[in-house]
Amino acid sequence: MAEEIKKNTIKYHPRRLTDSTADLEGTAALEKLCFHQPWSASSLELLTKDGIGVGYLCEQNGDIVAYGGMLIAVDEGQITNIAVHPNRRGQGLGLAIVQALIKHAKAARLATITLEVRVSNTPAISLYRKVGFAEVGRRKGFYTKPTEDALIMELKLK
Ligand SMILES: CC(C)(COP(=O)(O)OP(=O)(O)OC[C@H]1O[C@@H](n2cnc3c(N)ncnc32)[C@H](O)[C@@H]1OP(=O)(O)O)[C@@H](O)C(=O)NCCC(=O)NCCS
Repeated sequence: MAEEIKKNTIKYHPRRLTDSTADLEGTAALEKLCFHQPWSASSLELLTKDGIGVGYLCEQNGDIVAYGGMLIAVDEGQITNIAVHPNRRGQGLGLAIVQALIKHAKAARLATITLEVRVSNTPAISLYRKVGFAEVGRRKGFYTKPTEDALIMELKLK
């Protein structure tokens, strides 16, 4: 498993999301493709503010094809979303983005990273388990359209 993570991390080089219009609008377009309630370009700007959040993305042929965001409060990171373009899934991009967020969290000496994910979202849950997240709880009816429970997952870094 470690070898696969290494291979994928080498294959892709996620870079930081910036507050440029191209980054924010390109990422908002990817959000729209992937989620019913997408983050707007102005909400995504939060992920470019030091001490508030961070985002990483991958581009292919000038298009943003994968991104992930994490809000940071004291020594806790909270992954907001990970999204890979529907035509680019299954190629290691999601893994590379999660790995970039974990690397960032370790460098920032965070103690934990948490996230919520729909209980039916098998690909995402499998991705998070693969990098060491464990299930620590459930929020009933957390999501709407459709209504569904959230699984709370956590990765301890210390
Ligand atoms: C979840 C998502 C980010 C995965 O990205 P991806 O680039 O396709 O994933 P990768 O190719 O990097 O795969 C990494 C691991 O994820 C898991 N995974 C990915 N796709 C999967 C699938 N269809 N079924 C089961 N597990 C899957 C596997 O553990 C995989 O490791 P493996 O290849 O060794 O089996 C992507 O499917 C996506 O954007 N989904 C829609 C948005 C979303 O639901 N985001 C999560 C919100 S919390």
